[in-house]
Amino acid sequence: MKTFYIETFGCQMNAHDSEKVVGTLLAEGYTQVDTPEAAQLVLYNTCSIRDKAEQKVFHRLQQFKREAGHGKLFGVLGCVAQQEGERIFERAPHVSLVAGSASYTKLPELLVQLETGNRRVTGLSLDTEATFDTPYTRRDNPHRAYITIIEGCDKSCAYCVVPFTRGPERSRTSESVMREARSLAELGYTEIQLLGQNVNSYRDPSPEAWDFATLLAKTGEIPGIRRVRFTTSHPRDFVKAIVDAIDANPALCNHVHLPVQSGSTEVLRRMQRLYTRDEYMRRIEWMKKAKRDIAITTDIIVGFPGETEDDFQKTVRMCEEVEYESMFIFKYSKRPNTPALQYQDHIPEEEKTRRFLILQERQRAIQIRRNASYVGRTEEVHVEGFNVATQQWIGRTSQHKTLNFTDADFPTPSEGRTLVGQYTDVLVKRSGPNSLAGERMENR
Ligand code: 5AD
Ligand code: SF4
Repeated sequence: MKTFYIETFGCQMNAHDSEKVVGTLLAEGYTQVDTPEAAQLVLYNTCSIRDKAEQKVFHRLQQFKREAGHGKLFGVLGCVAQQEGERIFERAPHVSLVAGSASYTKLPELLVQLETGNRRVTGLSLDTEATFDTPYTRRDNPHRAYITIIEGCDKSCAYCVVPFTRGPERSRTSESVMREARSLAELGYTEIQLLGQNVNSYRDPSPEAWDFATLLAKTGEIPGIRRVRFTTSHPRDFVKAIVDAIDANPALCNHVHLPVQSGSTEVLRRMQRLYTRDEYMRRIEWMKKAKRDIAITTDIIVGFPGETEDDFQKTVRMCEEVEYESMFIFKYSKRPNTPALQYQDHIPEEEKTRRFLILQERQRAIQIRRNASYVGRTEEVHVEGFNVATQQWIGRTSQHKTLNFTDADFPTPSEGRTLVGQYTDVLVKRSGPNSLAGERMENR
């Protein structure tokens, strides 16, 4: 029996890539196990967006170094694999397989090479046409499914490693996306999430030539699909038609993640983000003026080379103006090959930390205030699980907020009965900085 273990780091694209890898390995006769100790083939699907993420995989590889050679093989997949390539064999000589995300359809061939004794197997080409055909995808969640609509990225943000790890943009045909979405609906999935490094620049390569807003609207019309989400959006390509589509169809979730990175036009220029603060704010205005209450979330990088205190304060003020529903804050991290590496005026680590903490505290106050405004409202949630420690069901609103709730008639999952996967109305009774809590309404 051939066994494998896989651990995934990084974004949703990576999580979905792992689902494709698992499906392929199962089809090749492998069995998945829960621990690296029990596996013959140990795989790490890696992320290199920041240095810390990259270090994690080398740390993991060190942990099991001594076991290598005793019938156990190690493989590095994903973004660190693509970025470091064959250098990984030098940094971690017990690794036998290095493959980037564009090579997963070639996995069966690569596995044959491994099985026949090759200990330096690589799949690093980025020019593949077949990355979207993934008939073996083994999805982790039976209710919510990822669908890749576009791979790679054609932007060149000065800090970002993604164009190097995932290559140029390739859009999938609308027909292929719609076919996958319909078949997921038939299998009982009710929520889908359209994925891409930059979903907004989606352009159907077939004669239909759908843009992203059209694709989004069409997926929202598929019978059985109750929720459609999408990540990630680039502000430059974010058009008003997307907001109009969300307004027109409640199946399209009223949540937009629109990473701004900085509130200073000067920093944005040096980041090569291709928009100014005002242009970004115009997009925020479209959403604030929408009929539906659209939750807006973002990513911020603090301490980008040359970011002055004044630039940073502009970011803080912008965040207070927008009142993001939530935000990911990152300290700038130097990445190989990227233009920003050559910039002068790198900010000391302590200063990055200081800015990080200031912004985090301001954002916490905003979230406390915003979340409190939901108390008394009734929200529909998609139930995701049950928290044994708190004895609460875990739900997610269309806005992507966590809304935990109790149900007097259904206090815990019981034999063969669960709320997981269902949609139900919850009255919000309490709020915190990161979640809401309430009681299920009688609507069964
Ligand atoms: N340093 C810090 N944060 C980064 N991100 C991307 N590259 C870097 C980097 N070099 C952040 C951006 C992006 C998110 C996924 O990660 O905010 O939106
Ligand atoms: Fe990490 Fe970016 Fe690769 Fe996702 S695409 S795994 S965030 S480096």
